[in-house]
Amino acid sequence: MSSISHSCKTYYQQSEIVAHEQIAEATWRIRVDCPNLATTTRPGQFAMVRLTGRNDPLLARPLAIYDVFHQHQAPDHWQPMSLGPDTGGGNPRFVDFVYAVAGKFTTTLTSLRPGDSVSLWGPLGNGFQVPPTDHLVLIAGGIGQTALLMLGREFLATVPSSQATFCWGAGHAGLFGHAEDFGNHGMDTHFATLDGSKGHHGTVIDLLDDMEKTMTFRQAAIACCGPEGMMGAVARWAAKRSLNCQVSLETPMACGIGICFSCVAPVLDEKGDWDYKRTCIEGPIFDSQTIQWDAMT
Ligand SMILES: Cc1cc2nc3c(=O)[nH]c(=O)nc-3n(C[C@H](O)[C@H](O)[C@H](O)COP(=O)(O)OP(=O)(O)OC[C@H]3O[C@@H](n4cnc5c(N)ncnc54)[C@H](O)[C@@H]3O)c2cc1C
Ligand code: FES
Repeated sequence: MSSISHSCKTYYQQSEIVAHEQIAEATWRIRVDCPNLATTTRPGQFAMVRLTGRNDPLLARPLAIYDVFHQHQAPDHWQPMSLGPDTGGGNPRFVDFVYAVAGKFTTTLTSLRPGDSVSLWGPLGNGFQVPPTDHLVLIAGGIGQTALLMLGREFLATVPSSQATFCWGAGHAGLFGHAEDFGNHGMDTHFATLDGSKGHHGTVIDLLDDMEKTMTFRQAAIACCGPEGMMGAVARWAAKRSLNCQVSLETPMACGIGICFSCVAPVLDEKGDWDYKRTCIEGPIFDSQTIQWDAMT
């Protein structure tokens, strides 16, 4: 494995795949040996991943960093471990990504095996703020859970007497892969499916409305990742209740480092004017109330 770094502590490296398997319908989990990324990444950051030695597809694709693992853990073991000092074993070494098969990159990626390598650079993006509250509600749609696991874990580890609630919506039950990771880290986990095959029958907003009948979200902060329409709906739901809400945008990206402007999103400034911001540099995490949801494509 080779690596170089520049002054922003973003690493470029070719990393060996140590585990790779399908975990749900059209959903795969891949673990790479990548100590630089594993030790420096923060919740909500991502990496640009490229197929080593191939020019088709030419461009790297952004993937959220799902989890990191310590050196002493068996690399073929998916069980998540906390990053706290109680785990011992020194610095984390392995990085996991979870991805949904969407197009050429992700389809080709499924054919790689342990021993093959990918090229990646990261960690990239601003990452989540750990909110000043004792109740964090993580809301995922589709493959959006990948941006949220590390945040929930860090929140529970750093905020005393806190609780984290994880709500995950998808089309049907077959799309939930390794959902137990969230419960294993102490998050109270709820599901919504459009066809009613798991959890609440309906959207994740329907689920939140239903949960509100028996619990209060009054002091909660929200972190959300998923399709834009769903995030816009969560943003409106949070605004109605005056809840702080961070969203992780998944705009398509070409460079990941602020050069190409392919990733821009319309964002409001403090004066109420809006301008395009680069999701890879100024994001991907934004206050949901600053996004011009109507202008998102
Ligand atoms: C910060 C960030 C983190 C991400 N993390 C993950 C992750 O953890 N797991 C994961 O599976 N995906 C993630 N994505 C999305 C992933 O990068 C895209 O799905 C990627 O384009 C897949 O490449 P592909 O060549 O397989 O598909 P492509 O050929 O690029 O795309 C296939 C289809 O999906 C559409 N599409 C592509 N990108 C997007 C997008 N961002 N939003 C909506 N539609 C899109 C295309 O228009 C096309 O129709 C993330 C994106 C961002 C910006
Ligand atoms: S992806 Fe190139 S500027 Fe953001």
